Order: sequence, then structure tokens, then C-alpha cells
Amino acid sequence: PDQVPRSPGEHVREGAFDTNVVTLTRFVLEEGRRAHGTGELTNLLNSICTARQAISTAVRKAGIANLYGIAGSTNVTGDQVKKLDILSNDLVINMIKSSFTSCVLVSEEDERAIVVEPDRRGKYIVCFDPLDGSSNIDCLVSIGTIFAIYKKTTDDEPDEKDALQPGRNLVAAGYALYGSATMMVLSTGQGVDCFMLDPAIGEFILVDRDVKIKKKGKIYSLNEGYAQHFYPDVTEYLQKKKYPEDGSAPYGSRYVGSMVADVHRTLVYGGIFLYPANVKSPKGKLRLLYECNPMAFIMEQAGGMATTGAANVLDIQPSNIHQRVPVVLGSPDDVQEYISIYRKHHP
Ligand code: F6P
Repeated sequence: PDQVPRSPGEHVREGAFDTNVVTLTRFVLEEGRRAHGTGELTNLLNSICTARQAISTAVRKAGIANLYGIAGSTNVTGDQVKKLDILSNDLVINMIKSSFTSCVLVSEEDERAIVVEPDRRGKYIVCFDPLDGSSNIDCLVSIGTIFAIYKKTTDDEPDEKDALQPGRNLVAAGYALYGSATMMVLSTGQGVDCFMLDPAIGEFILVDRDVKIKKKGKIYSLNEGYAQHFYPDVTEYLQKKKYPEDGSAPYGSRYVGSMVADVHRTLVYGGIFLYPANVKSPKGKLRLLYECNPMAFIMEQAGGMATTGAANVLDIQPSNIHQRVPVVLGSPDDVQEYISIYRKHHP
């Protein structure tokens, strides 16, 4: 209590506040310096971070700013586009372009890749979903932004093909979750770090360093409404989670329907998230370049796994920018158990 200022103008003693917080900007600057980088990745990450702050603000005052509702078009993958989706897309594109660090951008909202104007180019390729889980906007359920960063591998004129790289080539990836607080989760290939947005100072502050996922969890997460279309491997796996043969407690079930929220819960609490193939959607629903790869990268960096059942997500060579793949990710023991059941059904 003696550290609380008693009258206006009276200064608090140092120690009442952390006067040396690690902001996201500081963190990426330090990482860049350690890696003897040119500063280009630092600038790119900072531009993405600024877009996140702006989107977070827009998401939080969506009603007031009249941002709810359908803008009257559908995006390339058939979801209804909301005004916030468009705003978020424009924000991410404009911030990244103005950092002079990228040459090709792939967005969920744009059918074709965006090739950056020659005078604003840099060496990075960014794939992103500016506002994932948009069906949850109107009911105030958590939504997020996902991004994946690659380096251009040739000296040719940049084009869409430059983005068709396997997730193994990722330089950095992460997501922002606009939940009860705004959190940014980032990996540049040295583990996973989490930053919480402090709205008072408008900065992301490092709150969890080198996060690791539990080896095994107690929660499964998928849209079980599609049960009649499931393939037998998924049905068998779920049966085992609900009626464990070893007498252990059954798994709990949680499904938000926003990939960022479901993956973040899986990272923090452990367990498994599935958007598998089914008879109606033989390729699954989620997109490889800006949903599955970045989340698989985060999972592996946190000690988890991500698979299609047949292959490691990060090993897939993409054939088009909006490609969908089945995905099962989370705690290593849980994903491994799913893979062994998948293999039994696909010898
Ligand atoms: O790809 C968009 C998305 O909203 C994801 O965030 C989420 O995981 C998934 O779709 C939900 O799909 P469904 O409504 O089929 O369960």
C-alpha cells in the first residue's frame, strides 16, 4: 500500500510497476539482433503487430462503429464476408506493404496472390487469414488473425508460385486471438512466446516465454455435428475418447468454431483439435497456407504435433494457394494415438 501514490503528483517508488517490460517490438528487435538479421523480419513483424492492434480495437468496438453485418459479398472460399473481414484484410495488407519487407501476399479474402509494387518490395512472402472464425463475429465469440512468413527462394519476378512452399520452410508464424483479452502467439523457430495486449499502453507484453504443450490432454475438439459423414478412423478415435477401455475418465469436449480459439485452448490446456476429412468434404475445410501450416508450426515449436493422418502437415507441398487439407493437431500422445488409428484404417 505504501507504493500507491497518495496525492496527485506524488511519484510511486520504482518497483510498484515493472519498468522494464518486454514488449513484442523489443522482443523481435532483440531476436533479430541475436540472429544478426538485416532488420527486415523485425520490421515485417512489427507491421503485422500494428495491424493486430488496430484489428483488436475494431473488433472490440464493432457494434459501435457499425461494423457488424454482411458486406454483401462472399470470399473466395465461400464464407460470407463481413465488414470486419474487409477492414482487417485492408489493414494487414496496407501495414505489411508499407514495411517494404514483402513481395507476395496471400490472403484468405483474395482469390489471387497480391504481388507488391516493385518500389515497396522486400524478400518475404506472407500468407494470412485476416479474421478467422468470422461466423462468430456477430455473437461476440472469440476470433483471430493467423499469419505465416516465408522467404522468397528465387531471384525471379515475384508471383503466386513463390507462396507454394511447404510449411517446413516457414521463417515465422503466429496468430492473434481476440478473446477475453487480446493475445499474440509467435514463433520464429526458437520456441513459442505469448504476448498480451495491454490496452492502456497499446503494446503487446511478453507474458509466457517458450510455452510447451502437455504431452497428453483431456479434451477433444471438433464439429461433431458432421458425425454421420465421418470416416471410420475418426468415429473409432472419438469412441475411444468417450468410452476409454482402460477405465480412465472420458475426455471433455470443447468446440468454439474459431480455429484460433480452439487451437489456443489446445496449446494452453493440452488435448487434440480435429478438422478431419469427411465424406462430404474429402479434403477437410481448413486452408493449408494460412490456417494449417502456421498452426502446425506453432504446435511443433511447442512440442506438439500436426498431421493430416497420412502426413505431417508441414511436409505437404502445396499445389494452390487456397488448398484445403484435413488437420489433426495438439498434444503429441493424443495426435500419435489418432495417427495409429488412422493407419489401421489406411494400411
Ligand atoms: O475457416 C474458418 C473457420 O471458421 C475456422 O476458424 C473454424 O475452425 C472452422 O471454420 C469452423 O468450421 P465448422 O463450422 O465447419 O465447424
